[in-house]
Amino acid sequence: MCGIVAYVGDQNARGILIEGLKRLEYRGYDSAGIAILNASSYLAKSVGKVAVLEERVRQDSPNGMTGIAHTRWATHGKPTEANAHPHSDCKGKLFLAHNGIVENYQPLKKHLIAEGHVFRSETDTEVLAHLIESAYHGNLEAAVQKALAQVEGTFGIAVVHAAHPDQVIMARRGSPIVLGIGKNESLAASDASALAQHTDQVVYLEDNEVARLEAGRFYITTQGNRSVNRGTTQLEISQEAMDRGKYPHFMLKEIFEQPEAVENALRGRLSHSEGVAKLGGLESVMDRLQQARHLIIISCGTSYYAGLFARYVFEALTDLTVETELASEFRYRKLNLRQNTVVLAISQSGETADTLAALREARRKGALVLGLVNVVGSSIARETHAGVYSHAGIEVGVASTKSFVSQITILTLMALLAGRSRDLSFEEGSVLLRGLEKIPDQIRAILTQSDRIRELAQKYSNAQHFLYIGRKYQYPIALEGALKLKEIAYIHAEGYAAGEMKHGPIALIDPAFPTIALAPEDGSYEKIVSNIQEIRAREGRVIAITSEGNDKLGDLVDDVIEVPRNHEILTPLLTIVPLQLFAYHCAVLLGRDVDKPRNLAKSVTVE
Ligand code: G6P
Repeated sequence: MCGIVAYVGDQNARGILIEGLKRLEYRGYDSAGIAILNASSYLAKSVGKVAVLEERVRQDSPNGMTGIAHTRWATHGKPTEANAHPHSDCKGKLFLAHNGIVENYQPLKKHLIAEGHVFRSETDTEVLAHLIESAYHGNLEAAVQKALAQVEGTFGIAVVHAAHPDQVIMARRGSPIVLGIGKNESLAASDASALAQHTDQVVYLEDNEVARLEAGRFYITTQGNRSVNRGTTQLEISQEAMDRGKYPHFMLKEIFEQPEAVENALRGRLSHSEGVAKLGGLESVMDRLQQARHLIIISCGTSYYAGLFARYVFEALTDLTVETELASEFRYRKLNLRQNTVVLAISQSGETADTLAALREARRKGALVLGLVNVVGSSIARETHAGVYSHAGIEVGVASTKSFVSQITILTLMALLAGRSRDLSFEEGSVLLRGLEKIPDQIRAILTQSDRIRELAQKYSNAQHFLYIGRKYQYPIALEGALKLKEIAYIHAEGYAAGEMKHGPIALIDPAFPTIALAPEDGSYEKIVSNIQEIRAREGRVIAITSEGNDKLGDLVDDVIEVPRNHEILTPLLTIVPLQLFAYHCAVLLGRDVDKPRNLAKSVTVE
């Protein structure tokens, strides 16, 4: 969603800020803006892509070595220039960019208007600029601290003031801010990927902290002005990870990185001698995990489908009662969390507002809260009691691919660990470990079919609707495959439990409504074949994803994509890959913006 970049140093700020915004484009946004401090202060905003803003800035060529920039994903007020950030105070001296939501903006705005402040936008953010203006008496940092004490809601902010051209003030509560400290320059952003090409020395701001940045220096205080001592840490994002390399889109690059994503997820975590997985991040809570009776998994979007998969795996390998819950709904349920309930939050970004709110609720009720998160140092990673990092590497494409595969790999390891500390046998554990080790090469083999899957996309991408069906371990894959097609190709797709098809969706089936059937030769194979027959009887076209060498589907289906054979628990790691490629190729053929699909955001920081 919204993105912030800030710079103070010895370089011209404009190029660095625009470049930073481009690095944040993947998060999703609909307008952008920039403010640069110089003799007259420069402010430019535009609706649409950063390239539009870039062109404006190129023509105006503002000079200045301090500035802030923002990409906005509209919440309060339409995506217009007036609503785009940075917002300024009445005098046009102070500029502010904000991620998050000011919940009490209406009473604050009323009060500020009564004081004589003039508002120019419909946003909640603008009240922050005027609040700081009202609290400002020569010390910008103090004014920010004082203003934020009146704010309810979440924020990550960047503030500059013409009277302090050598300073940028940053602050956060609930919305991430990371500082990047270079030799003669300091940067800040809402996402470390915007800083990676300038410095690898970063500082993560904590909630209710305020940072004053000067060139090459930073000072952190609490909102109450207590000084905080914190050193920099090494950033682990490589420049290569941020580039598309030989691929036309990040999404395709990330689909092709999946063998390595699985290798990274497994690295150092398999103990063949004990037939178990080793997850260092869970060691401190192993006692409580052993006593757990009840597991609730909370997450959103693709991570939710990973959680749905995990339910089947935990149930198969352990005696835990497992529930999977959409984080956005979790808070509305009256849950009686007992002492031995464990809550697991799954999130690629570690910043999804609903997941964060749900895990806070679970903590409040006394549950042990674990995390499975990709982004190191993110809010969810910090607010859980213990957890595991995916180590999938930075994922830029809005539609999650390698993160999903990494998540379901690690969830299998978690279930294996929990199972082996209960009654799962060494032999059963070993079979899974051996199967897991085959996965990277098996995914590589599927990736070689990309051209053929593109041909299938050519054949089917004119369809307006698709049905995806699967059973048991393949049911979450049907849901995830359908989500991919919706997200990036904008084709309506329904994921369904195959057995449920006859209770509704079968009414939709006709020659124009194709079905993708997940039909590997696992324990549910015969049943899914019956479902395919039901579709055929209604003249529906079917693409089947099945096991290598299965020639029994014959005339029953129109097209077949084969995946290598493995344990049925592990087969979803394979069947998802052709579905990702199918969605990708459909989206490209239809001319969609694959990496930045309309209306979507990579990291959803509003509830
Ligand atoms: C957004 C993204 C999805 C992602 C979901 C949950 O909707 O576009 O790709 O699955 O958020 O995000 P998380 O970072 O918590 O996994």
